[in-house]
Amino acid sequence: MTRLAGKSALITGAGRGIGRAFAEAYVREGAQVAIADIDLGAAQEAAAAIGAGAYAVRIDVTRQGSIDAAIATVVEKTGKIDILVNNAALFDAAETVNITRESYERLYAVNVAGTLFTMQAAARQMVAQGHGGKIINMASQAGRRGEPLVLVYCSTKAAVISMTQSAGLNLIRHGINVNAIAPGVVDGAHWEHVDSMFAKLEGKAPGQKKAEVAAGVPAGRFATPGDLTGMAVFLASPEADYIVSQTYNVDGGQWMS
Ligand SMILES: NC(=O)c1ccc[n+]([C@@H]2O[C@H](COP(=O)([O-])OP(=O)(O)OC[C@H]3O[C@@H](n4cnc5c(N)ncnc54)[C@H](O)[C@@H]3O)[C@@H](O)[C@H]2O)c1
Repeated sequence: MTRLAGKSALITGAGRGIGRAFAEAYVREGAQVAIADIDLGAAQEAAAAIGAGAYAVRIDVTRQGSIDAAIATVVEKTGKIDILVNNAALFDAAETVNITRESYERLYAVNVAGTLFTMQAAARQMVAQGHGGKIINMASQAGRRGEPLVLVYCSTKAAVISMTQSAGLNLIRHGINVNAIAPGVVDGAHWEHVDSMFAKLEGKAPGQKKAEVAAGVPAGRFATPGDLTGMAVFLASPEADYIVSQTYNVDGGQWMS
């Protein structure tokens, strides 16, 4: 199918995991996709594996100069930017009494400021182009409610849901749709890291937390990144032109709203 034919997209954190799966899906749908990641090697590997339509760009979403340079590269290469997926994020877990300022600042720099200022840079370019665009922010079920050991990450994802609402209301007058996806638990390197953190914090055997969490998902399993690509393509397509400021749960039934 070619629901994104002729579109130019940038996906942050697309060197691996969910972002990489989105890049594959967007290329399949006819888009040119900048696989943007702080890990340029991973981005290059992903772009080479995906083939024609994908290219690697280094971005550090905590640096304004790096955000601006990545947007400029996309515009230089494709003449425009139509779609941004704000996907890069970091996770951490700790008892509330043990949260450090370093962890707080690191997660807020990527998950909140990174999302805001990459969204801003893309929106400025889309406004200047004058034919709208699509911005998709990666939220999480973690942004819907707190978790005992995950205060900082949960609060960054609540901020993503809120920023999506305000930016969506502000940018729709330019034909720019801002929406978000809230996944539940998705298999991959991210969750290997989460599992190992919970193993330490809760004294669990490796893999135990993952098994417990999977058993609690109404759909009975973790998602694969591929379970999320349908929503990511839909929100980037003209079919979503009338959808503004929403966060969609793609989580196997974990959260209802
Ligand atoms: N995996 C899950 O269970 C899950 C659940 C809910 C939401 N999410 C969200 O989905 C998104 C993708 O998750 P994932 O599991 O694929 O994560 P991941 O950790 O596998 O990938 C994140 C990518 O972001 C990149 N990155 C980190 N810091 C960066 C920076 N400063 N600038 C640019 N890139 C940077 C990393 O190099 C990595 O390639 C994240 O926003 C995450 O919070 C994931």
